[in-house]
Amino acid sequence: STDVGGGTPWMSGPVVRPRRLRRTPALRRLVAETSLEARQLILPAFVREGATEPHPIAAMPGVVQHSTDSLRRAAAEAAELGVGGLMLFGVPEHKDAVGSGGTDPDGVLNLAIADVKAEVGDALPVMSDLCLDEFTDHGHCGVLDERGQVDNDATLVRYAEMALAQAAAGVDLVGPSGMMDGQVAVVRAALDAAGHTDVAVLAYAAKYASAFYGPFREAVSSSLVGDRRTYQQDAANGREGVREALLDVAEGADLVMVKPALPYLDVVRRVRDAVDVPVAAYQISGEYTMVELAAERGVIDRDQAIVETLTSIRRAGADVVLTYWATEVARNLR
Ligand code: PBG
Repeated sequence: STDVGGGTPWMSGPVVRPRRLRRTPALRRLVAETSLEARQLILPAFVREGATEPHPIAAMPGVVQHSTDSLRRAAAEAAELGVGGLMLFGVPEHKDAVGSGGTDPDGVLNLAIADVKAEVGDALPVMSDLCLDEFTDHGHCGVLDERGQVDNDATLVRYAEMALAQAAAGVDLVGPSGMMDGQVAVVRAALDAAGHTDVAVLAYAAKYASAFYGPFREAVSSSLVGDRRTYQQDAANGREGVREALLDVAEGADLVMVKPALPYLDVVRRVRDAVDVPVAAYQISGEYTMVELAAERGVIDRDQAIVETLTSIRRAGADVVLTYWATEVARNLR
């Protein structure tokens, strides 16, 4: 009966009452469909060449460009709290047209990989951004042709070299993030030919051109003028995100990533349903900063917003989530 009673005292109201299972925290915990665990979180971290102490990133309150020492401490802390992995980005002192710092064995990122591996060993999977944008003076993810356009195939050669440098430094997974066509196949082939068959590929498969990368540009002291719309995807395209993910799996990706996360949860779900490898989603800098600044202004509850966004990304289908809050959330989950 849907008669709620009114003038009929024998009627008890609705028979179906979903609220019964929401009555106490223990009941809600019992029936929760989605879990959030430290092992599912990957911490992105920036390391700055020549830094003797951590430098705060104004656009991302609470996030720093690490020195070698502070990065090692952050890695040890993440490992100790059971965080799932670490994704490293380098901020070099010098940049050039081809991003030489990315392939230099003594480049900031390659040294950081070796440092962190020496600190955590196999306790924490170490991943590295495999992209030229942090290392190029023009700030693009690849090398440019005579007309100033990003040259796909010339860039692939640089990515293969970068993969070898990162593998030599001891990385567990490389993260090609430049959205060049064929990048996963080239990286996989280069690694295998050099005997690095154990190095896995976490492919930035569906990566959208996004305003939410804004704070990251400060985090890596980016020199980019313009945008990345000739290689990153158009926000209008969901089906294309699935296609990109399928291509990357066919090229040998071990995991595929959707990025950004929150504005693209439909893509996360579609990719999860379309592939049979683990799916990652990257809660990017702008997603982080939106919550931090709104909380600073006192208009949202910070801790609740963090857990709600991460739970939603997991619910959409992400097996793992890259988030700048990884260590904090892992500690709170203890
Ligand atoms: C490319 C790269 C970017 C991010 C991760 N890898 C920047 C971009 O594509 O513009 C963004 C991460 C974030 O915003 O948190 N190397």
